[in-house]
Amino acid sequence: MSHLMSFPTRVLFGAGCVRELPAELENVGAKRPLVVVDRGVVGAGIARTVAQVLESAGARFQVFERVDSNPVEKNVWEGVEAYRSAGCDAIVGLGGGSPLDAAKAIALMTHHPPPISRYDETQGGEQHVTAHLPPLVAIPTTAGTGSEVARTSVILLDDTRRKTTLFSPHLLAKAALLDPELTQGLPPFITAATGMDALAHNLESYIALRNHPFADAMALGGTARVARFLRRAVKDGQNDLQAREEMLLASSMGAIAMQKGLGAAHSLAQALTAVAGMHHGHANALVLPAVLAFNRDQAQERLADLAVALGFDARASAVERAAAVVELVRGLKEDIGLSGGLSQHGVREEMIPALVGKALEDARHQTNPRPCGADDFRALIRQSW
Ligand SMILES: [Fe+2]
Repeated sequence: MSHLMSFPTRVLFGAGCVRELPAELENVGAKRPLVVVDRGVVGAGIARTVAQVLESAGARFQVFERVDSNPVEKNVWEGVEAYRSAGCDAIVGLGGGSPLDAAKAIALMTHHPPPISRYDETQGGEQHVTAHLPPLVAIPTTAGTGSEVARTSVILLDDTRRKTTLFSPHLLAKAALLDPELTQGLPPFITAATGMDALAHNLESYIALRNHPFADAMALGGTARVARFLRRAVKDGQNDLQAREEMLLASSMGAIAMQKGLGAAHSLAQALTAVAGMHHGHANALVLPAVLAFNRDQAQERLADLAVALGFDARASAVERAAAVVELVRGLKEDIGLSGGLSQHGVREEMIPALVGKALEDARHQTNPRPCGADDFRALIRQSW
């Protein structure tokens, strides 16, 4: 049986590294990029900062900002049109997960025939994606999704009427720039919620079924970073650049690790966003303790490793360490202000059947260490209530 590890993206990190953007574009032979952002990135002044970096290098570029907070098909086609009419030859994705996902889909559709649903992962779309895409440089402005190093793009399509995942190694950015100065202005709630998404990627991939030692090493490193630096990033993210940088690294590490697979927390989070409109990272934070407890017997050794990465005494027995993980995650969640259960955050009793249905539909629980059926999802929702 063979296994695969694949990770070809250049990753630059450190305060001020966004100033390397012109050099990175030159590296990939780009002369006129389309810079894909959303209104939040423009409003925070980050689009302006990056535009100044490009202007000071004498670079020509076009900014495209019509990206919804959950990207839709229209955003992609308008982006393709902007790319063509400005004569662009590369794409820069700048923002949280939404602009980065939109940037990948725009890159794909500049050189691939429609419809976008042809590239749907669940319909074997990967086989239709060729290497013929403009080069992409990704610059994250949140630390959570890790979209800058992921090979997926999630778009709400007109024909499928659901969030559709486009997947291909050809969607990977040629370079990712992790600059903590761009995340300094994130408010505490977004810092906390996106940080818990990064933690969920690292924890769920470490315990996921499948043999992937490279991903495991990334996941342990990412987990340790979240444990040490998320509280600091939430408390004083404006000034604590070290915490911001470490959280960006934890986020990228989690997204590299998740090529191994995720688990039941992500299936529930997907459902909570679709049915109750909850922030993806916040949803993960609220269900993680119950999901970790659910997996205790099937993943005891793995959870024991994670407890140490989370700061627990390495000399304790595996049983003690595995049991401690739930409290360590719960404690972190409370410390960063994500207290309360699902019922205190807009989830209502009558939503439960739809939540269970959506969670079952989501493929990611298939790599959860303990098989998870409808009754299990119902119980996990109750325990997170
Ligand atoms: Fe996630």
